Amino acid sequence: MNIRLAMTNLNSNLREFRSELENLMEAEELDYPAVPVFGPYRPYLKHAIAHPAKANIYLIEFLVRNYTSPGDLILDPTAGTGSTCVVSALHGRDAICIDIEPKFYEWMEKAREKVEKAKTLAPKGRMITILGDARKLTELLKSKTDIIITSPPYGIFSHGEYPTKRLAEVGIKYPSNPGNIDNRPYEGEGETYITAMIRVYSGMFKVLKPGGLAIVIVKPFIRNKKVVDLPYITWRLLDNVGFKLIKLYKLRLHIMNFWRVLYYKKFPDVPLIAHEYVIVCAKNDGVEARSISPNTVQNK
Ligand SMILES: C[S@@+](CC[C@H](N)C(=O)[O-])C[C@H]1O[C@@H](n2cnc3c(N)ncnc32)[C@H](O)[C@@H]1O
Repeated sequence: MNIRLAMTNLNSNLREFRSELENLMEAEELDYPAVPVFGPYRPYLKHAIAHPAKANIYLIEFLVRNYTSPGDLILDPTAGTGSTCVVSALHGRDAICIDIEPKFYEWMEKAREKVEKAKTLAPKGRMITILGDARKLTELLKSKTDIIITSPPYGIFSHGEYPTKRLAEVGIKYPSNPGNIDNRPYEGEGETYITAMIRVYSGMFKVLKPGGLAIVIVKPFIRNKKVVDLPYITWRLLDNVGFKLIKLYKLRLHIMNFWRVLYYKKFPDVPLIAHEYVIVCAKNDGVEARSISPNTVQNK
């Protein structure tokens, strides 16, 4: 089945979900093609194609170009494939990418080697890869960062078996590390998704320079026929640790897996997840937020 076509047909019949975040601030809509194979960055990242939650590479490029300057130090504490850091380094920014999964660390290392070998006209930045736990950022990092661009894990309920199956197909057990936040329930005994992410976000606050920015890309998801507004939950956590909201985007989604298409056909009353959100927030520490004068018109 042509999933894009199916989605177009679906879109016209379904009510689109709108995050509670849009009651706080208008969300500027971005529209980039879905690039499951990393688009122009494929030569550096194609070995990591099986990662189940890759960010849209054009979105990453937009954020790096508009919110950072050459020479900045960018951090992605839950970096997956390392795509944020590849784009950053190729645009002359230094970048630190962290992931807790040894396989993803191996992929980030491979990407780093490819970036280092690449001959480019413009000066490249440095890519530093760390196999580590984002809940312990203050222990992992020696220097403060200018900006964080990241997409968090989603917890155990968000994806059920899907990522696990996808990785299993290529012989990778996921999650393999007990510290992986994708393992955490939203409620219950012990560490939950919320308490784990509070540790990550408060660490992000501490490792940012005064006035630094944190940009978090996060998608709502469906559980028990209801939309979980993870973008809004994420904002509440960021607010809780001291960030202030300065800009909101929503990226239109163009691709949907086959099972999701069938699901919407079966349950047409469930709102359509048509966007992922990009929360741009600044460290609320009395210092003026860095002004990069972002060009809010997307560059295609
Ligand atoms: C949404 S994915 C990030 C994908 C990435 N933006 C990309 O484009 O490849 C979230 C990542 O968080 C990682 N993760 C989960 N728990 C972690 C932890 N405690 N510390 C560091 N990384 C963690 C997962 O292994 C996963 O790769």
